Amino acid sequence: MSNTKNIVVLVSGGGTNLQALIDAQNKGELGNGKITCVISSKDDAYALTRAENNGIKTRTLVRKEYSDISSYSCAMRDLLLEEKADLIVYAGFMTILDENVCNAFQYKMINVHPALIPSFCGKGYYGLHVHEEALKKGVKVSGATVHFVTAECDAGPIILQKAVEVMNDDTPETLQKRIMEQAEWKILPKAVQLFCDDRIIVENHKTYIK
Ligand code: GAR
Repeated sequence: MSNTKNIVVLVSGGGTNLQALIDAQNKGELGNGKITCVISSKDDAYALTRAENNGIKTRTLVRKEYSDISSYSCAMRDLLLEEKADLIVYAGFMTILDENVCNAFQYKMINVHPALIPSFCGKGYYGLHVHEEALKKGVKVSGATVHFVTAECDAGPIILQKAVEVMNDDTPETLQKRIMEQAEWKILPKAVQLFCDDRIIVENHKTYIK
């Protein structure tokens, strides 16, 4: 078996997806990977507390301390290299990093998005806004997508998707909660496991699971 992969998780908020990864790790379900560091773009993110409670190293790289995305991305790339990251997981990470990071870690970064890409994605579609737009449109199913991160927002090869039913009386909050519980917290750890066990192949911008 190859060396254990260092998983670095990027967060900005509450960290329920990070928690799902920690729970999966505790159950031995992250395959040949181990969460070695959590990096937050905000110094008050509750996700940092979740990491600390589980003995995981934390670092912060505060977005608002950098004047532009390019200097922030370069600083993030250096941090990820320092942490010897083999896999980088965006788990509610709300900053779009540029090609300085994406090129250095091509097909080594994955993101969970709270909709079925290519619906309700791209710049401006994050967190509750995604569910507001889905309800405005009146879709009957939404869901979650795990995909590789490329320099183009939410456009990298799709790894896993799971559909979730929309109810007549849903609010953005209830829809968000159902999508997290039924989709995100399941497919994110699963995709991490597949990656760490070298089971994801990328060909012509599509992925195949071995
Ligand atoms: C999750 O729903 C995640 O999919 C979404 O933000 C929430 C973070 O929750 N991410 C995005 O919208 C990224 N574009 P969490 O901090 O509890 O994991």
